[in-house]
Amino acid sequence: MSGKEDIKHLLKISGYSNIAIEYFLEKVNVGEIDNPDAYFVHTGPCGDTMAKFQAIGCAGAFSSGSALTEMIKGKTIEQAEKIEEGDVIDRLGGILGQKIHCTCLAKKTLKFALNEYRGQQKDG
Ligand code: FES
Repeated sequence: MSGKEDIKHLLKISGYSNIAIEYFLEKVNVGEIDNPDAYFVHTGPCGDTMAKFQAIGCAGAFSSGSALTEMIKGKTIEQAEKIEEGDVIDRLGGILGQKIHCTCLAKKTLKFALNEYRGQQKDG
């Protein structure tokens, strides 16, 4: 097996869905944004961090961040805020029980970034 196939296999036997594995391996929406309107760095209780959408974290953090950033495209702030962790988990085709907090990390980071954006709009 290649390195990528080994990782895929390990994630699969760990219980990740095929969708989550693809999001993780393809790094969907991972990277920097030049001149973002707002950003927020949030570290979850496990010590993993998700910022805009860069993450120092596990496959659950990356796949959740990819899924959530895909889901908010084209949505208003109000619509984006209504996306729940369960919606992200559904998009992923499920997630391991011990990885639900990874989805919460993505959701909380988005919430804090949106709050930051709103604060900048008021101040601005
Ligand atoms: Fe920390 Fe997944 S283990 S976000």
